[in-house]
Amino acid sequence: MFRRAPDRIRAQVTFTFDGIPITASAEDSVAAALLAAGVRACRTTPVSGSARGPYCMMGVCFECLVRIDGVGNRQGCLVQVRDGMKVETQKGAHALSAEPAL
Ligand code: FES
Repeated sequence: MFRRAPDRIRAQVTFTFDGIPITASAEDSVAAALLAAGVRACRTTPVSGSARGPYCMMGVCFECLVRIDGVGNRQGCLVQVRDGMKVETQKGAHALSAEPAL
């Protein structure tokens, strides 16, 4: 469904999603990199546990929430992927904590 245009392939970075290495364009958002890699779901809902994935790609729908380097509630569509980044599925609601927003 999603395919990268040949002229849009730039420098590459490698990050992990739930421990699985994924190579992406250095210009990708986390959500774009996951979709390009075939990942369709990156979180589960707090109420029913159903799987959700990036939808609007512009910071409105919050369907792209993931844990990035241990910090939950990050919108994958608004974060640029970095080499060595550790991205994880956000399961349900992320607990509130005093951790600073990055
Ligand atoms: S995909 Fe909608 S807020 Fe990220």
